[in-house]
Amino acid sequence: MSIYLDTSDIDQIEYFHKMGIIRGVTTNPSIMLKEGVTGGMEGVKEKSKQIAKVIDPLPLSVEVLSNDYDEIIRQSQEFAGWSENINVKITIHGPSGEIENLRAIHYLEKEKNIRVNVTAMMSVQQCYLAAMAGATYVSIFGGRINNMGYSSNEEIIKLRKLLDDFDLKSKIIVGSTREALNVTEWLLSGAHIVTCQPEFIKTMLIHPYSKETVKMFLEDAKNI
Ligand code: E4P
Repeated sequence: MSIYLDTSDIDQIEYFHKMGIIRGVTTNPSIMLKEGVTGGMEGVKEKSKQIAKVIDPLPLSVEVLSNDYDEIIRQSQEFAGWSENINVKITIHGPSGEIENLRAIHYLEKEKNIRVNVTAMMSVQQCYLAAMAGATYVSIFGGRINNMGYSSNEEIIKLRKLLDDFDLKSKIIVGSTREALNVTEWLLSGAHIVTCQPEFIKTMLIHPYSKETVKMFLEDAKNI
């Protein structure tokens, strides 16, 4: 059970990686755009190679930039060639519910030996099908599930049971983190991995009473 960072910010990645508390990094086009990546495919390549090198051999997920079947296959092979620790993120289906993506996911995992992280999933049903198709990672969006009015914890508990009962190898990544509490709650519900923004790690780490206690130790240290 572990924490990944959901960011493309190289300084934050280096900072937390040096503490030994992260086990991988996930990105998506929206995160990259928000964090200033420009230059189209070249920009994505440069940033991805940079991150992959910093965290090597930990895994980095890079999302394909298209929903066309042939282009998904082409980009996946290209991304996987950038570094050995890069896996490819592919959405469970297209923007209008096009379902070709699962065929691409299965083909890449089984025929091309490329690790796939299936993303943008909101239910145990979607994750189960992605796992059956052979996905290495199934990414379920906990915060968005809660925002829709049903329980992310219940989805995670059911999903972990299904994967374990049917001996499916996929690892559950829960993303879409909205509060620090999500991290331990989702791990305790059965997530193998929670991917979160760097600020939540700081919130998990720093406690006001710890600050006060440390202050007391340091004050008394001066008077020994
Ligand atoms: C997970 O892999 C995604 O990158 C991410 O957590 C999406 O979360 P959002 O709901 O904040 O967009």
